[in-house]
Amino acid sequence: MRMTFYEAVGGEETFTRLVRRFYEGVADDPVLRPMYPEEDLGPAEERLRLFLIQYWGGPRTYNEQRGHPRLRMRHVPFRIGAAERDLWLRHMRDAVDSLDLHEALERQLWEYMVMAAHSMVNVAEDA
Ligand code: HEM
Repeated sequence: MRMTFYEAVGGEETFTRLVRRFYEGVADDPVLRPMYPEEDLGPAEERLRLFLIQYWGGPRTYNEQRGHPRLRMRHVPFRIGAAERDLWLRHMRDAVDSLDLHEALERQLWEYMVMAAHSMVNVAEDA
């Protein structure tokens, strides 16, 4: 049987490290931090962790807890323009780099993040 991407990059531990590093960046970001409604970023970190694990072929705990992702819809309450998208991607780039993955895996992960972040933009200021 073919390995899932989730398994190939090291399973749960890798995604835990990825989102931990990402949210460390968000925690210190003066633009992104105020967008998060909760005082504690821990629950948001856990939701992103479970979503990514599921997306890449790991356990489907995200769907059990949150239902169908519908990520664009879930981001509608937040104003996401080019600036917010690029900051999100900057922290994600740093987090992806920190994993030291093999090049092909890293590229696959990064291309997805770029595509997903662009698809979450919900204000028209950027072309
Ligand atoms: C939730 C911001 C892109 C995945 C959230 C929340 C904010 C946010 C403020 C609410 C926090 C919470 O869960 O309590 C942003 C911004 C983005 C962005 C500014 C810039 C483009 C993305 C991308 C993904 C993603 C690209 C997926 C690859 C998620 C997930 C949740 C979430 C899974 C939790 C949804 C739920 O179950 O309620 N995001 N996000 N976000 N975001 Fe993003």
